[in-house]
Amino acid sequence: MHSLFSILVLHGPNLNLLGQREPGIYGCLSLADINRLLTEAANKLEVNISVTQSNHEGILVDTIHASVGQHQGILINAGAYTHTSVALRDAIAGVNLPTVEVHLSNIYRREEFRHHSYIAPVAIGQISGFGAQSYLLGLHALVNYLREQNSQKETPA
Ligand code: DQA
Repeated sequence: MHSLFSILVLHGPNLNLLGQREPGIYGCLSLADINRLLTEAANKLEVNISVTQSNHEGILVDTIHASVGQHQGILINAGAYTHTSVALRDAIAGVNLPTVEVHLSNIYRREEFRHHSYIAPVAIGQISGFGAQSYLLGLHALVNYLREQNSQKETPA
């Protein structure tokens, strides 16, 4: 029987506009569609997810702080804050929860200013470029990581 992990899913600025926003880059699914896909995937994986979207850096920081003791991992698309926010990076480092960074678009094929992520060095990994699938792949990767960590704890060498 798996432990019932709880995962915080965080969507950063402008992701509330998905579906209408630059569909050639971000696809035509809305954020509600993506959240529905994530909920279905979480049910199959037998984990809980808690989803927050905010356009405000401080709210994202507060939400990360509040995840301590509530969630075991974080799946984050920090949107444009990926490329600007030392505060978000410090929040993730501060709570020390395994974090997977995702992006709908391949940030490395786009403008130079999107090539740098402040989040990447404090994340266990990054998935970029697969549209809504990036979130689903990221969720699988995070759950897999948490289960492996847990089984290592349960079976001492
Ligand atoms: C994004 C990529 C960022 O560069 C951009 O600012 C976003 C969305 C993505 O999911 O592809 O808002 O994080």
